[in-house]
Amino acid sequence: MCGIVGYIGPKEAYPILIKGLKRLEYRGYDSAGVALLNGDLTILKKEGKVSDLEMHAEGKNKTGTVGIGHTRWATHGVPSDLNAHPHVSNSAQLAIIHNGIIENYASLKTELVKRGYTFKSDTDTEVLMNLIEDIKKEEEVDIEEALRIALNEVVGAYAIVVIDKANPDKIIAARKGSPLVIGIGDKEFYVASDASPIVEFTKEVVYLNDEEFAVLHRNGDMEIKDLGNITKTPYIQKLEMDLETIEKGGYDTFMLKEIYEQPKVIGDALRGRMNAKEGWIKLGGVSEFATRINNAERLIIGACGTSWHSGLIAEYVIEELARVPVEVEYASEFRYRNPIVTSKDVMIAISQSGETADTLAAIEIAKERQALIFGICNVIGSSISRVSHAGAYTHAGPEIGVASTKAFSTQVAILMLMALQLAQKKGSISASRLRQILYELEEIPKKIEEALTLNDEIERIAAKYFEAENFLYLGRGINFPVALEGALKLKEISYIHAEGYPAAEMKHGPIALIDENMPVLFIATNKSAHEKIVSNIQEVKARKGKVIAVINHADEVIEGLADDVIRVPETEELLSPLVSIVPLQLLSYHIALMRNCNVDQPRNLAKSVTVE
Ligand code: M6R
Repeated sequence: MCGIVGYIGPKEAYPILIKGLKRLEYRGYDSAGVALLNGDLTILKKEGKVSDLEMHAEGKNKTGTVGIGHTRWATHGVPSDLNAHPHVSNSAQLAIIHNGIIENYASLKTELVKRGYTFKSDTDTEVLMNLIEDIKKEEEVDIEEALRIALNEVVGAYAIVVIDKANPDKIIAARKGSPLVIGIGDKEFYVASDASPIVEFTKEVVYLNDEEFAVLHRNGDMEIKDLGNITKTPYIQKLEMDLETIEKGGYDTFMLKEIYEQPKVIGDALRGRMNAKEGWIKLGGVSEFATRINNAERLIIGACGTSWHSGLIAEYVIEELARVPVEVEYASEFRYRNPIVTSKDVMIAISQSGETADTLAAIEIAKERQALIFGICNVIGSSISRVSHAGAYTHAGPEIGVASTKAFSTQVAILMLMALQLAQKKGSISASRLRQILYELEEIPKKIEEALTLNDEIERIAAKYFEAENFLYLGRGINFPVALEGALKLKEISYIHAEGYPAAEMKHGPIALIDENMPVLFIATNKSAHEKIVSNIQEVKARKGKVIAVINHADEVIEGLADDVIRVPETEELLSPLVSIVPLQLLSYHIALMRNCNVDQPRNLAKSVTVE
């Protein structure tokens, strides 16, 4: 949440900051701003998108070879010009950008007000800025020492970058609980929430650890210390990201591009990790811990949102194949009870970003109680991947659309491999069944390609339903999480109220909602529950509901009942979510476009939820 970017070096900072903010805009987009040092401290900030900031900056002084920029997802204070970052200290000497939340900002503010400080915004960030200034003045220390002392006083999460008008040859960056990466160029540094603003300039990066701060000097020197003032040796890594992976590549939106990337990225996720012909699976992280995972009393899956839905699919698959008990927990709830977790449990934490605050907090609890943590993340080097004992990357490449699509399908593919590897190790699956599933898994990219050819047909269906105010998504068994995910996609980007339910639960309540205005989408690809699903469809039709059904080729029974059908290729039932989710992603996409919604940056949302 919130995107931050900074630059110091020989180049003009403004164009670098603006380009970086556009790449980070998926993290928050209610206001944006930059601060530049050019003998003076120039602040340009504006409510709205980065493009609004650019218009606001037209004709104004934008010079300076050191600067910081921010795109905001509001926490404290409404989106407005005043609450936009950067925030400036009372003396107008210091400027800060911040991603995160300072929890004890109210008490700090009270103290600062007593000492004569005034505040222009409602933000916690302005409080932190003035706390640093106050310490700098009172203790007569340099800016980095003031920042270090201040950060020892604050409670909460932050990634910050600070510049000082009196010290134009350095910028200071610090993190705790919010990501921050430093790009190293030739006598220049870039700082950002993720590598996307950096990748076109350098591939050499340092990921700052929690409770560390970096002082980046114009002469190319970099010092990293922890908050106890102990010097740290920077660990320089090579970025594996390419520029084209973070651009739209000819598509109108990132979401559409990412939906269409699914065949490729699933292939990437599986490559080198399985071979159907030879009957092997080798997911690096699982190999080492397979015995411990298989002997676990429970696998606790902790995740949020879409990642929680892939966890629900994993529950079906792991229990079916590896026969290990699985519980799927909302990480955001798990942390607020006193869960029973022991050293015999394993937590599988699933997260696209690897930065979700709730999932990190759930991991912390499970880790304290000695559970093994297995992280499944997309973003390489992310916090969750670093705090896990073992794990696997999904290799979906950068996912920029706020609504998760390719990250979901690669998570499901990886969890499938994990289940198969555990089952093979345990001997709970026959060699022939294992091969059969592996062969089907290899075919999945082609089947998704085929599902993608339905795009025009789905657009036609979208045109029939885009004015609906409500939607029900129903599925049985492994298709229940698919129903949840389909409903989440629709509500996130089209703002239509949508509910996902197990189809059998309909009669226990949701059936009361059904009338001629209620579209009900059935995911009806499971052979095992076909008759039951047909009965549920009959029940909806009997109450004049409109039925859209996702079916396999040649399902005459459902075709005869439904108002609209979407025919996806048939596959092994345990793998079917990978194919049946595709038309649901496309349907929500087209409905959102028809309602004039911004599919990549839906209102109120942010890609990476780094606040509680
Ligand atoms: O990065 P994570 O997978 O941990 O994110 C979890 C959720 O915030 C995320 O899946 C969210 O629900 C998406 N907007 C879904 O499209």
